[in-house]
Amino acid sequence: MPTDTHATEIPPGLARQLQERGLEAVLEPARRAGPAALRALVRDLEAVDWTMLDRQRAALLEGPPPPPEGLEPPELLPPSLQDTPENRAAAEAGWELLRRGGAALATVAGGQASRLGFEGPKGAFPLGPVSGATLFQILAGQVRRLRERAGWKIPWVIQTGPGNHADTEAFFEARSWFGLGRDRVRLVCQGTLPALSEEGGFLLAAPDRLFRNPDGHGGFYRALTRSGTLAWLREQGVEHLFYCQVDNPLVRMGDPVFLGHHLLQRADMSVKVVEKTDPAEKVGLVVRHEGHHLCVEYSDLSEEFCARRAADGGLEFRAGNIALHAFRLDFVEAMAGADLPLHLARKQVRALDGHLDPVPRPGVKFETFVFDALPRAGKVVVQLADRAEEFSPVKNREGVDSIRSSREHADARARRWMEALGLRPAAAGWTEIEPGLALDLEDLRRRRDELELACGGRLLRRRRA
Ligand code: UD1
Repeated sequence: MPTDTHATEIPPGLARQLQERGLEAVLEPARRAGPAALRALVRDLEAVDWTMLDRQRAALLEGPPPPPEGLEPPELLPPSLQDTPENRAAAEAGWELLRRGGAALATVAGGQASRLGFEGPKGAFPLGPVSGATLFQILAGQVRRLRERAGWKIPWVIQTGPGNHADTEAFFEARSWFGLGRDRVRLVCQGTLPALSEEGGFLLAAPDRLFRNPDGHGGFYRALTRSGTLAWLREQGVEHLFYCQVDNPLVRMGDPVFLGHHLLQRADMSVKVVEKTDPAEKVGLVVRHEGHHLCVEYSDLSEEFCARRAADGGLEFRAGNIALHAFRLDFVEAMAGADLPLHLARKQVRALDGHLDPVPRPGVKFETFVFDALPRAGKVVVQLADRAEEFSPVKNREGVDSIRSSREHADARARRWMEALGLRPAAAGWTEIEPGLALDLEDLRRRRDELELACGGRLLRRRRA
């Protein structure tokens, strides 16, 4: 039989925090469930960041800020793949940075692949249509090739979430860390924030546990700092970070031209964008406002604003965010302590509702976003990406940004590269370039003598001995 637990077992500091906010009722289900449950809940509550909780509660009352007025388009650098004197100078600076061990790579992979109908971390999704390579394997190939070219074991930091950290670790372990070295790939689990009721109360996943959700990709700054990863990178002489999402198999990891511009212009944070040509395309827009850069989500902008044209006939606001950044390490650290805006998502959550069993009920989840650091950066470089060569994310099961569209774009790029080298891929069916074979077409040319077409002309790979 559960025994009643006396209120004095609650540490006085915690009791005060709860009382000041009128939140003592959160203890009731644990009190009914018994001392073990109460002890566990107390431990959970002691981990709550009360200052952040007050910000969350204030955000509930205030609602989202209106989109700012007087936005201007940012200045855009041409894509890395364009041969210009500026890009050549940037490539030189970027390669020099990579060779002297001044840059590391980071990938955010905190999400599940449930939107793809796949159980497990998104990075474990087998995207390669011929090889079956997973997203992680495709990215790991890029890391390996970049290391070969730079002559340095560039560290790779991967942000996981509480829901997929153990699975991601087991996935990499089972594949021997793709030969990249357990000590050179660091998994960092992002933090969580308590979800709240519309009235600002805690929600309970169980009598002994708060309902929490991952703190959004903006949790990256805190997770890197708190886990000691920034210190670890600094010890090795790393000063800059290249950042990408796990869901874009065409990403040019550690793009030396992009890193070079970021370095030469002494930027705190830089961002790559694709040229938005369809006003209705659902991407965040990078814009300028009162001398700062910021990213505004498409849902916050009117149709009329999105459709405005510039003198060259293209969209006036065309800088579509692809969530690809470069950071100065000091800036990452500064952002770990910054109060980035909170984004609220009103969702059904499975939480207690006065009963001992969780039931679906309305709740509010809170997240921060990486790109909300843009206005706090002194200098920002905004560079266009070549969409066909660099960006085709896997977000949905079907339709736009789907498994199929991403495979189609990777197939088209593979065919372009093979044909440019005078190779003849299979006329029908998917084609693929083995992960890690080349960073780009120019890199593939360097390896011309090492290549073979396998699997009936569908897979271009390094010649087997
Ligand atoms: C995001 C951007 C959008 C951009 C698009 C490009 C936001 C709100 N929007 O949209 O402006 O055009 O990417 O592809 O981000 N992740 C974590 N932890 C979290 C949440 C997400 O690590 O708590 C990671 C995911 O694993 C994924 C990435 O962040 O790699 C993107 O998250 P997602 O929620 O899929 O953002 P999008 O809606 O795709």
